[in-house]
Amino acid sequence: MPETTRADMIVHEQEPYNAEPRRSALAAHLVTPVGTFYSRNHGPVPQVEVGAWRLQVEGLVDHPTSFSLADLQEAFPAHEVTATLQCAGARRADLLAVRDIPGEAPWGPGATSTARWVGVRLADVLGRCGLAPGAAHVGFEAPDRSSGLVEEVRYGGSIPLGKAQGPEVLLAWAMNGEALTPLHGAPVRVVVPGWIGARSVKWVERVVVSSDPSANYYQAKAYRLLPQEADPDVLVAGAGFALGPVALNCDLLSPEPGAVVEAGVQSLRGYAYAGDDRAVERVDVSTDGGRTWAQAALQQDDGPWAWCLWSCDVELSAGVTEVVVRAWDSTGALQPRSPADVWNPKGYVNNSWARASLTVE
Ligand code: MTE
Repeated sequence: MPETTRADMIVHEQEPYNAEPRRSALAAHLVTPVGTFYSRNHGPVPQVEVGAWRLQVEGLVDHPTSFSLADLQEAFPAHEVTATLQCAGARRADLLAVRDIPGEAPWGPGATSTARWVGVRLADVLGRCGLAPGAAHVGFEAPDRSSGLVEEVRYGGSIPLGKAQGPEVLLAWAMNGEALTPLHGAPVRVVVPGWIGARSVKWVERVVVSSDPSANYYQAKAYRLLPQEADPDVLVAGAGFALGPVALNCDLLSPEPGAVVEAGVQSLRGYAYAGDDRAVERVDVSTDGGRTWAQAALQQDDGPWAWCLWSCDVELSAGVTEVVVRAWDSTGALQPRSPADVWNPKGYVNNSWARASLTVE
């Protein structure tokens, strides 16, 4: 079945293809099957021939170099990292309920998925090319052209050199033991664990080391947290601040909000995720709208870059139950309480407490 006709996905847009799995599908696996993994595209998915593909490494490097996939695989050791990708627009649907965000899709919690990625370390490739004085940021460029923008834009972005040199950042060619599919960036994509999905550039063809962040639209104008009063129709380069590390977040995946469930003991399940160098330490679950809390059991045996799945057995009696879920991270930070606290003009980073009503019969 073509990747873009997966019947079980919630499709926000068919072209460009933007889709997320249902909560129940996401809840079923610690590592998300490729066919269930969300997909976020700003333009048509390019079909890049692996034989014709090259990666050009240039900018502030001593030895600008062009690599084929075989060059990368022969020259550097392969590494596997289990990492969660989360789109900065995940859970935007709850921000839309606060105030409209024209032109942005109502993503739910499913714009979050976890895979085992295999590739070479970006740090190894940069080391081989040699960093020149002034190197401070690493930019990525891809061939896909964005749909629906006034400007003619190809996709790109950058990360600071310090993050780029982390052992977890990969130029990946495999996902869950198989070659990347076109939808997820074949033949090679960047994987930046712990940072917003936007920085994990698919179909990457140029790595540019420079003294400044990338001037690409998706770094300089989009994927930035703008002040509440900013006009999202007039995006100004450098306005607000660029998003990088993922914010502490969580949601309920099973049962689905709005579900009708039986009275008695029910197992509530979901995910929590803390980006970059933080870990999820605690997930609290309330079945009385946040008056009292129980602690969920955490399952996070897939390393520091993967999400944490949580579960909590609760006793429910007949009526309408308001479930609230909130996570704490290793810095002692707690998620913000309400979507109204974090509303912003482009609808990014809704990491407020998760709330769901269940009807208990
Ligand atoms: N890379 C390219 N070239 N083009 C894109 O549109 N979307 C980004 C990122 N990399 C994008 C891209 C965004 S916003 C996200 S959240 C992730 O890819 C999604 O990766 P996935 O489609 O494999 O889930």
